[in-house]
Amino acid sequence: MQISHLSAECVPFAKTGGLGDVVGALPKFLAARGHDLSVFLPFHLEAANWFRKRDTWPETAVEPYDVWVYGHKYTVGLLKSLLPGSLVPTYFVAQDELFHRGSIYAGNENGEDDGLWRFTFFVRAAVEGMKRLGMRPDVIHSHDWHPALAPMLGAWQSWREPWWDTVASVLTVHNIAYQGVYPLSEFPILGLPDGVAHGGNVEFGGALNLLKGALVAADMINAVSPTYARELMTRDGGFGLDGILRSRGERVTGILNGIDTAVWNPSTDTLIAANYDAADLTGRDACRAELCRVAGFEAGDPGFILGAVGRLTSQKGFDLLLSTVPELTRRGIRIVMLGSGEPALEESMRRLESQTKGRFRAFVGYDESGAHKIEAGVDAFVMPSRFEPCGLSQMYSLAYGTPPIVRRTGGLADSVNGFDGGNLDTATGFVFEDASAHALAASVLFAQRVFFHKELWGRIVSNGMAQDFSWSRSAERYETLYRKAREVRGLPW
Ligand code: ADP
Ligand code: GLC
Repeated sequence: MQISHLSAECVPFAKTGGLGDVVGALPKFLAARGHDLSVFLPFHLEAANWFRKRDTWPETAVEPYDVWVYGHKYTVGLLKSLLPGSLVPTYFVAQDELFHRGSIYAGNENGEDDGLWRFTFFVRAAVEGMKRLGMRPDVIHSHDWHPALAPMLGAWQSWREPWWDTVASVLTVHNIAYQGVYPLSEFPILGLPDGVAHGGNVEFGGALNLLKGALVAADMINAVSPTYARELMTRDGGFGLDGILRSRGERVTGILNGIDTAVWNPSTDTLIAANYDAADLTGRDACRAELCRVAGFEAGDPGFILGAVGRLTSQKGFDLLLSTVPELTRRGIRIVMLGSGEPALEESMRRLESQTKGRFRAFVGYDESGAHKIEAGVDAFVMPSRFEPCGLSQMYSLAYGTPPIVRRTGGLADSVNGFDGGNLDTATGFVFEDASAHALAASVLFAQRVFFHKELWGRIVSNGMAQDFSWSRSAERYETLYRKAREVRGLPW
């Protein structure tokens, strides 16, 4: 099959979280199964800098061409490179005014959110690029709300453009908390037929909701874990869009993400102090010692060290973790945390660090190499997420021999088997139910007790390291999803 991915993020060119990891990995594994893959991305400043740092530049894919958005003409440069470690062509839609910005999701020069405008441009430019390249994908696979216009063009525009007649659409929901909501008066920017504005297509709660439009229009939809697919259809999990997801129930499925073992693998990772694998964990000691040095912890202290990495948003529940820091550190636990996001949480991290010197270390910022060092160097990794569509960090920590302590939600529930005192043959980590500081602290303290029973802990570590979270398994499920999308393409639902 010919499959084109459309996304705002893709590792290593542009990433704020797991979306980038997924789009940078899945296409490689699909290509390895014999499919014809391509990825289309905006040429963000971050991507341009990635090339500059390596003293290289993507090649020109086609002659520059014009794309119109609501009467405004843009000239597009379509650039081409390969997804590192593969032969998958990655096409960059270059337009400095719209994408040459300090961060991927930054607003325009007045600080305004012009996401509707620039991602409309992105999709139109990518589709025009495909046509100029002589491509006509069997499936256009869109990720989250940014390329939402693509499934909408497929469903509601085909009478105008026969090119779409054979193109099926798949939408992956990585996080329904982000929907791309704009005033309904901005609908004309999309350039869709007027009738689409109403009748429950893209309108939701009196506003224009891009993700909703894509959920209505896509031939098939998937969430990034089976549990999240079910949670999306509930009032708590659907962020208002549960009704539309329920009504499309037969077209919705859940596929657990994989991890890219070329990047996240303790036996080859070049960002950690020493390599190791399940058969010989000695290298972990050096990783732990390095972590202690970087964090300013006493390396000879055998006490339990907890790590956390992630975006600081209420989704991740780091406020719960921060509120337990005084108690946990009093009980001999040391904690290292890396994250950036909400200023209030960044501020609490800094404050706690100054109050709990030598026991709580806060790294405020984004640091790829720091994330690897934490995964390999701490004793356990904590994710107290309020909701977690899939979560990749807990799978990285399983692969790194660092048992995760997670809340039972979304993909965390699907990937971590909690130790209950009896299931030593299968337990891979620790799982708690309530999104409360109390439940989190109880789970961490239980893990701390188990940690000092070296034999028990060793079993949990090796069970975790034996798990197969490779993309090969999930890539096969995506193949089935694509086939289904082609079968149901254009059929009423
Ligand atoms: P989400 O996509 O919701 O942020 P995931 O667990 O799927 O959560 O993916 C998070 C990814 O982003 C992981 O690769 C993690 O290491 C990385 N990450 C998040 N915050 C940071 C940070 N501050 N520094 C380095 N890496 C980070
Ligand atoms: C989202 C989710 C995260 C998921 C990632 C990749 O950002 O928050 O849980 O792992 O997408 O699918």
